[in-house]
Amino acid sequence: MVRTAASCEQKYRTRTNKSRKYIENAKTHIPGGVESNIRVFEPYPFVARKGEGPYIYDIDGNKMIDYALGYGPLILGHRHPEVVKAVKEQVDRGSLFGSPTEAPSEYVKLVKKAMPSIELFRFTNSGCEATMNALRVARGYSGKEKIAKAEGSYHGGYDYMMQSVDIPAEVYQKGKKCQPAVPWGKGLPKCISDLAVIYPFNEWDETERIIRKNADELAAVICEPVHAGAGCVVPRDNYLKKLRKLTKELGLILIFDEILTGFRVARGGAQERYDVKPDITCIAKVAGGGYQLGGFGGRKELMEEILPSDEGNVYHGGTYNAHAVSVAAGLATLKELSKPGIYSKINRTGDRLFNGLGDLAKDRGVDLWIEHVGSLGEIFFTDKEIRTWRDELDIDGAKWEKWFLNSLSEGVFFGVPHPDGHAFTSTAHTDEVVDRSLEIFDDSFRAVAK
Ligand SMILES: Cc1ncc(COP(=O)(O)O)c(C=O)c1O
Repeated sequence: MVRTAASCEQKYRTRTNKSRKYIENAKTHIPGGVESNIRVFEPYPFVARKGEGPYIYDIDGNKMIDYALGYGPLILGHRHPEVVKAVKEQVDRGSLFGSPTEAPSEYVKLVKKAMPSIELFRFTNSGCEATMNALRVARGYSGKEKIAKAEGSYHGGYDYMMQSVDIPAEVYQKGKKCQPAVPWGKGLPKCISDLAVIYPFNEWDETERIIRKNADELAAVICEPVHAGAGCVVPRDNYLKKLRKLTKELGLILIFDEILTGFRVARGGAQERYDVKPDITCIAKVAGGGYQLGGFGGRKELMEEILPSDEGNVYHGGTYNAHAVSVAAGLATLKELSKPGIYSKINRTGDRLFNGLGDLAKDRGVDLWIEHVGSLGEIFFTDKEIRTWRDELDIDGAKWEKWFLNSLSEGVFFGVPHPDGHAFTSTAHTDEVVDRSLEIFDDSFRAVAK
């Protein structure tokens, strides 16, 4: 049978009737029927009911192998028994005290052990808040206002960083390596774009030129050490080491946004994997084990900007910071991830999935570029190398959609549901689970083959 995009969609619709009805109804009181815009995909998202290990179940009773994993946090899979136990115990003791508790300190010791660049650390409730506060510390310390960020990078949904996350076709300057800041979406004041300096990840010469040119006005350079804004783009040619050397030479603060990579691409994140020490690191996702926890930390003299002082300091606060249930979940997760050999296992599973995908595409004659670092990766329907965010703009999105929807209707949810998304494996994904997924992916590659 020849599978068209329409027949893939029909198969999905047939399996997800209750989800369709729910979303239609939800749209009457929730914009788009979803709680975060990224959850929208065509024809409509399925509605989840429960998760178990590597599986997610929807309200129609479908069981799917899950490579989205809550968009990254669930590195131990859904409902890991140690995480569930820690959460239940904490719920029984209370959730919020408005006074310090003991667990945060134990938690931060594990963070510092994994990431020795962190000397002092503060908790937030999300990755967005983590980077937002890190930028404020950098501005407070340096007395300067501009921040350099990579084109295509996402650091959270607030005005300062909602710049050049994506660029509308009508203002996109094709043929250039990079262009000045473009606000992503409506509602962003023009004066905020003026505070963002945009550089192209993995294009070293242009990055250096732009950062040198703006150095006098820059408070910091923020960087996703694996460019996940482009799905997944791995740093090439010592890009991160060069960035570290340049920022040091110019006296600029280097912030690593390790919200996706922290405790995922290695215990110590990308800074361990690529052997580069930033001044400030932001974490979230895996760090909270599926609960609302993030944080930022770094060199003592920078983080001490936060110390309460009558002479003025950098403000950092929040009712729910270090929420006891989130810290319990995060602590249980970091303890599991402290076990010897666990990252070899996590990386092996990622290799099995992404290498397997590459082999299947080759066998079926489908042009595919794969980027992955251990358990984080993405596939791109293209015959060219994906080295930069701009490369990723030229992929065959329609092919990806057909492949994704066919896989979903056969029982695999392959990551953040967009062509520039990313997929993850967990410790719950056994070889058998990955191999079963690959059988389904093979069917999807046949569906999109020429
Ligand atoms: C690299 C990166 N930074 C920041 C964020 C924002 O994190 P959160 O959604 O927890 O606010 C994300 C979220 O996907 C991310 O991928």
